[in-house]
Amino acid sequence: MKKLFYLFLFFTSGIICQAQTVNVISVNADKPGSSIQPTMWGIFFEDINFAADGGIYAEMVKNRSFEFYKPMMGWKILKPDTTTGVLIINRGETNPANPRFARITVAPGEASFGLSNGGFRGMGIKKGMTYHFSVLVRQLEGSTLKIRIELVNPKGEVIGTTNLNPEAKEWKKYAVSFMATAAEPKAILNLWFEGNGSFDIDMISLFPDDTWKNRPGGLRSDLVQLLADLKPGFLRFPGGCIVEGRDLENRYQWKKTIGNIQDRHLIVNRWNTEFAHRLTPDYFQSFGMGFFEYFQLAEDIGAEPLPVLNCGMACQFNTAEVVPMDQLDPYIQDALDLIEFANGSIDSKWGKIRAGMGHPAPFNMKFIGIGNEQWGSQYIERYKVFVKTIKEKYPDIRIVTGTGPSPSGKDFDYASKELKKLNAQIVDEHYYANPDWFLQNATRYDNYERNSFKIFAGEYAAQSKFTCSPDNQNNWKCALSEAAFMTGLERNADIVNMCSYAPLFAHVDAWQWTPDLIWFDNLKSFGTTNYYVQKLFSNNKGTEVLSIFMENKPLTGQNGMYASAAFDKNSNEIILKLINSTEKTQTTKVVIESTKKLGPIGKIFVLKNEDLSKVNSLEQPKLISPSEDEFAVKGKTLSQLLEPYSFSVLRIKVMK
Ligand code: AHR
Repeated sequence: MKKLFYLFLFFTSGIICQAQTVNVISVNADKPGSSIQPTMWGIFFEDINFAADGGIYAEMVKNRSFEFYKPMMGWKILKPDTTTGVLIINRGETNPANPRFARITVAPGEASFGLSNGGFRGMGIKKGMTYHFSVLVRQLEGSTLKIRIELVNPKGEVIGTTNLNPEAKEWKKYAVSFMATAAEPKAILNLWFEGNGSFDIDMISLFPDDTWKNRPGGLRSDLVQLLADLKPGFLRFPGGCIVEGRDLENRYQWKKTIGNIQDRHLIVNRWNTEFAHRLTPDYFQSFGMGFFEYFQLAEDIGAEPLPVLNCGMACQFNTAEVVPMDQLDPYIQDALDLIEFANGSIDSKWGKIRAGMGHPAPFNMKFIGIGNEQWGSQYIERYKVFVKTIKEKYPDIRIVTGTGPSPSGKDFDYASKELKKLNAQIVDEHYYANPDWFLQNATRYDNYERNSFKIFAGEYAAQSKFTCSPDNQNNWKCALSEAAFMTGLERNADIVNMCSYAPLFAHVDAWQWTPDLIWFDNLKSFGTTNYYVQKLFSNNKGTEVLSIFMENKPLTGQNGMYASAAFDKNSNEIILKLINSTEKTQTTKVVIESTKKLGPIGKIFVLKNEDLSKVNSLEQPKLISPSEDEFAVKGKTLSQLLEPYSFSVLRIKVMK
């Protein structure tokens, strides 16, 4: 076939014209290659940037049980000039998971006194929405205190109110619901204590009614919906460096994140003061979003759960503590128990706990990650013990391991070499780099060893400035370069089995790390340009790789274009992904080599913007989002103009 020819375009107004190169691209649809795993495109969830507390976990009260380092952080005393007061009591000896509560006293004859909570940078309140307030209360002898509950806007105007008359002399949960009369993105919750006497209060909570699947105490539905719309193949949780902790004391311990909410042991969020340029001292992990909720979320959105556990090493960018080898057992036991928690029968110890939380059926967990961004011989040494023990008991569980924070260099090479020798199953690689790196690395896996481990591209995001810069933008240049890179991941789906952008979420007023896939405030949320790239890939995954060539070579940057192709045996469609990374329109003629007839009309989704610096925002959430159209297929060919700086997905029906 002639590979290049020229198309002459005639303009009515003038003589000739312009000669344009036609890029002739061929797709071999008769010979589907390797399978694309259902897990190919997934989600990386980490509680960074207020992703969990203050984010997807819909609790609106910050520091609801007074367990932050400063017990009154997030709270203000209203009318402090009265003799009444609040006393923080610590019963740590008898209740180590939830040691503190507040004792409120109002003296006879005194005006009411109160506490207010500012939420997570305010509380997002919707007009006409029902809000559910709850609190644990214990009245002391002779006390008749009542609570007046108010939501107020920043001007102090009441936009929702109700009353609670708790009478119990022993700890009891009281709940009351009320409706908001106005919308407000930065509301405050006031609790006025009226009457006289003393009572103890704890676990002060406020949730909107419209949580995901209307689960009481559940998740923010708009944020879960954005995840569900990705149709993710897996959900990796709970991180990220949060797994490691800044030190081992503050590592993520899943057993402390399940069961009754008030028994989950709050710890500091390791991202709170990580970056001097984005200090967030009020960032803690209440674990209202704990391991049970992660498994449930994965199930809800049809994703395979991929929990990642601490391997006996704290973050190597921080304390780099390691647990001695002879004290590794509890860490390994955590992994074994987690598998039982997820998959065990309801007669097993941990399966019973899962059932008690409302999920008797197993979660059918197939993967487990051991360690996050660890490097060096200490990691390999610990990883080996984990693998041996897990495989002895659960030979079918697939173990994910890591190569550290960088996709190249001494530590990466060492880990890759060792993991190869150890027959590792799935190896996690992370890439935070500039957009050029992503373009250049569209070929990264073309020559990777085929007879070794599978790749989990577990964290990647193009950085418009540099990694950890607070000025990084989720701009179109970054997203387009990621799309180009992802064609390389898809072309190599025989070894690349799982991929996820990172990080996932960021609160516009409380983030530590940028760029991020989804941004939100207390009421609204939006997918970035990068989100729509992920969504197009994931929603148009296909089941088998097809080869796609220009001049007998994979399209990996020739004329600034990148491409991958797949066949979807479920819908009987050929799916093409074509990227034009240049400022010029590219004329393409795609020839489908197929013995079968093709449908005459195809579907095309295009993401584009001529300005690479453009971003989506709360104000313009869909500035760069896919448009949908149709195109004609003439026999086995289709002619397509790829617009400047565009990513197009084409779907073509194969007739039976
Ligand atoms: O995604 C943010 C952080 O980047 C992750 O916690 C860590 O794994 C990586 O260094």
